[in-house]
Amino acid sequence: MELQRVTAEPAVSRCLMPETLHVDWPDGAPLSAESQASLRRAASVLEAGGLVAIPTETVYGLAAVATDPAAVEAIFRAKGRPAGNPLIVHVADAAAAVPLVAEWPAAASRLAEEFWPGPLTMVLPRSSQIPDVVTAGGRTVALRSPAHHMTAELLRMLARPLAAPSANRSGQTSPTTAAHVAASLGASVSLILDGGPCERGIESTVIDLSMSPPRLLRPGPISQSQLEAVLGHVVMNGLSASTGDGPSSGPARSPGLLARHYAPLAEVELTDDAAEAVARRLSRGERVGWIDCGEAAPAEPTDLSGLLGVVTPISERERERLLLKRLPAEPVAYARALYATLHELDEAGVESIVITRPPQEASWLAIHDRLTRAACPRDEPA
Ligand code: TXA
Ligand code: MG
Repeated sequence: MELQRVTAEPAVSRCLMPETLHVDWPDGAPLSAESQASLRRAASVLEAGGLVAIPTETVYGLAAVATDPAAVEAIFRAKGRPAGNPLIVHVADAAAAVPLVAEWPAAASRLAEEFWPGPLTMVLPRSSQIPDVVTAGGRTVALRSPAHHMTAELLRMLARPLAAPSANRSGQTSPTTAAHVAASLGASVSLILDGGPCERGIESTVIDLSMSPPRLLRPGPISQSQLEAVLGHVVMNGLSASTGDGPSSGPARSPGLLARHYAPLAEVELTDDAAEAVARRLSRGERVGWIDCGEAAPAEPTDLSGLLGVVTPISERERERLLLKRLPAEPVAYARALYATLHELDEAGVESIVITRPPQEASWLAIHDRLTRAACPRDEPA
């Protein structure tokens, strides 16, 4: 009998796919009886301690009832997530957040009023209602109220908070569709609620309000200047993997800020001179994905001209190994499409992804953050 090769990464069996409920509920329309039944089913799986993938406006989350430690432990197992990396707790609104924190400062009220429901996560001292496993033993809890009407309805129906990290294997690209969740987690999630593609496409902004001045831990759709308009001064995180903070040294200020994260399977090269990088990689025989920003790449890249003006002719055979994807030169639309494009290139089996560096402007900060992490070499701490 021939032995099959076993890889260290837990393989996702394509035969064991989770149940997916497509909830057809356009925003603003009344909830149909069928959709209501789907949400009730998701609520009952969660109440029984199961895991449900939920749509949010940022990325899909892998949810469990936050006050059920055994269910939350199952999230860590399903993701292969280090126990030192705490989870975000999702609530219906600010009133549902208050019992979960030791204090609810005026700054939290103002931010919730301005940005909830929405892509802002606030870190605050936790109350005893939050189990240790959620916060990785830390004294603070991260809270957000997601702006997806289906998940908002689920939270109201449940009347319980949901702990939910992004619904992907730890370290991989976050999912922005139900299909991405199924491909990454397979049968380790009981049920997927399919709420369509995520509108924002990158993870929420995380701000730490447990210190003064407040500290931006993860840039995201809500910008530093939007936060400063409400709070006054906000400090940029100042924490990176190079500080040595991480799961191994107790709860870091935000362990998700580790260098390599959000990474596709293919090697990523982020560069100002994408034409040179693409030509170099094609000449080595690689299958290359190229994520262009706007119209920087030539319409039909058979002659690639790099920054130094060196024109490299691309042979027919090499051109067949190049997959060119153009993303809009506007940060909101770029963010919406980015992860889906990374997933698509991975699925197409490219060995490398060359990414044209987007403009160096404040409005692109969260995207630069994700691209830099995706491009971090594999031997950096992950
Ligand atoms: O948009 C989002 O935030 C998505 C959706 C599902 O809500 N969730 C998400 O979760 O991105 P996750 O687990 O992939 O990222 C959560 C980040 C991590 O960097 C984690 O370290 C940080 O938030 N975090 C969680 N609790 C924290 C805490 N108490 N203090 C500091 N950072 C915390
Ligand atoms: Mg994540």
